[in-house]
Amino acid sequence: MGGEGIRWHRTGVTHAGDLQEGVPARVHVAGKAICLVRWKGRVHALLDRCPHQGNSFAGGWCEGEHLVCPAHRKGFNLATGHSRGGGTDRATVIPVQERPDGLYVGLARSGLKIFGMRLW
Ligand code: FES
Repeated sequence: MGGEGIRWHRTGVTHAGDLQEGVPARVHVAGKAICLVRWKGRVHALLDRCPHQGNSFAGGWCEGEHLVCPAHRKGFNLATGHSRGGGTDRATVIPVQERPDGLYVGLARSGLKIFGMRLW
């Protein structure tokens, strides 16, 4: 992924260790709800809108490599967003960086796509 279409935003989370392992945390960045989750030593970010019916991932949990939505227990791969079990729903994965001054997420500049998907 080229970085020219991305603008990096602070999340307000200072350290990855501030996130509870496997527990999604909702933050608002640039007017968007983002789900941050630390799982097995890595921080992941997804748009906090389940592709199934639009629920927040808040209250969900991690299983294997998947984030499970609490509404109907569908799982989405933390790295790719693909639905567990091969469904067509796909969560929007957002680039995340851990920097000395905190966690940043990379949001597409208006009108551009990330990983081939339009974010909003
Ligand atoms: S809204 Fe997330 S699984 Fe249905």
